Amino acid sequence: MTTADLSKIPLPGPLEAAALAARFASAAPYELLRFALATYGDGLRIACSLGVEDMVVLHEAARAGAELGVVPRVFLLDTGRLHQETYDLLDRAREKYGVPIEAYFPDTVRVEELVRRQGANGFYASIDARKECCAVRKLGPLSRALAGARAWVTGLRREQSPTRGGVEIVEVDAQAKDRLKLSPLAAWTEAEVWAFAEAKGVPTHALHARGFPSIGCAPCTRAVEKGEDVRAGRWWWESPEHKECGLHARVGRSS
Ligand code: ADX
Ligand code: SF4
Repeated sequence: MTTADLSKIPLPGPLEAAALAARFASAAPYELLRFALATYGDGLRIACSLGVEDMVVLHEAARAGAELGVVPRVFLLDTGRLHQETYDLLDRAREKYGVPIEAYFPDTVRVEELVRRQGANGFYASIDARKECCAVRKLGPLSRALAGARAWVTGLRREQSPTRGGVEIVEVDAQAKDRLKLSPLAAWTEAEVWAFAEAKGVPTHALHARGFPSIGCAPCTRAVEKGEDVRAGRWWWESPEHKECGLHARVGRSS
């Protein structure tokens, strides 16, 4: 793993975010990932849900890491409610890329308390109950996965939903003003992601072929019908403006 001396790198802020967003606006995702790995080393964390966008990011990060002699730090938030197919791909991806994708689990005491109070499937009862489950099972592990990070990488794309239309390639993380959030695929279409994955032989999640454009947790995701929005199968009982779990809260938004 790299030993980029983070103490010598100024804390990122809005000016740096804007400058980097402009610099990498028309660059391939690989270029941004290579830059970020070379700059932040261990201070860069790459989120990987094993969905196709994250597999493309993982593929390119592993390639950049190999070129730089760096093992990227990649993490999975294991909510305890993921699909079996997600674990199958996790093992395949670890083997193919030689990257130790780190699983972060929710705090046991908080999960026990949540399940005692709202039941095993209490998240169907209301938006608040669902957000509470996401907070315990996703946001808790996320804050541990990002401890000490100067920047993190997501597979977010603007086209995915109304709540994601403003995602920048590089922005200040709304959750921590001294951390950057990089979304190298922000401007990509779904077709571009799939064309890349197919051309490069990127392994993909078995559920994509069964009508799941978005993966998430097993009890909160279903397949979508032809013509339905790509996130229609996530928390399908809620309206589109609520369909965020808090991982990607943005300044001025309530999700
Ligand atoms: S989300 O609502 O679950 O966040 P989505 O599945 O579209 O939506 O994921 C968006 C991005 O959030 C992914 O590209 C990835 O960067 C991050 N992410 C989502 N779920 C996880 C997870 N379980 N582990 C790691 N990263 C995740
Ligand atoms: Fe809980 Fe569903 Fe959120 Fe997963 S997606 S953390 S099961 S509410």
